Amino acid sequence: MPRRAEAPSPFVAAQRERLRATVSLGPCLDLACGRGRHALLAARAGLRVVALDRDASLLRKLASEARAERLAIHALRADAESPHGLPFPPACFGAVLVTRFLFRPLAPAIAALLAPGGLLVYETFTKRQRELGHGPTNPAFLLESGELPRLFPGLAVVESVEGLAGAGASGAWLAGLVARRAG
Ligand SMILES: C[S@@+](CC[C@H](N)C(=O)[O-])C[C@H]1O[C@@H](n2cnc3c(N)ncnc32)[C@H](O)[C@@H]1O
Repeated sequence: MPRRAEAPSPFVAAQRERLRATVSLGPCLDLACGRGRHALLAARAGLRVVALDRDASLLRKLASEARAERLAIHALRADAESPHGLPFPPACFGAVLVTRFLFRPLAPAIAALLAPGGLLVYETFTKRQRELGHGPTNPAFLLESGELPRLFPGLAVVESVEGLAGAGASGAWLAGLVARRAG
């Protein structure tokens, strides 16, 4: 049995009801899903999920866990930084989840994936993560303070937070955004 996915981020877990409300708008995309902790959360909430990552071994473990639980998760291997863009038509997702992944040039394409009324839930590291001595240090992977909502100027901000989550080896300086495309 493959190792189980880590616990969901509390920020994402707190969006469960908002995510559930997008079910009629289309499936949910977990972009750069890793082991799929948020794909699993969304699927357990009743959403159909596309879980995209470039790491085939993580996707295999996720697919196996999804099969065992009979969850509607389609694990898809793709490169989110491909010059060809993401392999989806515009406006095809009711929700998009992105956690602990940042590729700034992709922000407009992520917003364009949302169906009218669709929800973006995004959480990733800020540059203060460097103070903790673990995690990413490359500025390309670290948000400036206040930057996350500015990456999505066409979406209406529902919730925007920044701060230190957890402690010790699992502590992380994170920015979180929930934003909606106009219906
Ligand atoms: C820190 S992990 C976060 C995983 C998951 N979102 C979470 O929060 O548990 C970053 C993930 O991004 C994936 N990734 C990095 N660059 C990628 C790319 N260009 N295309 C697709 N996935 C990518 C990695 O394979 C890894 O699984």
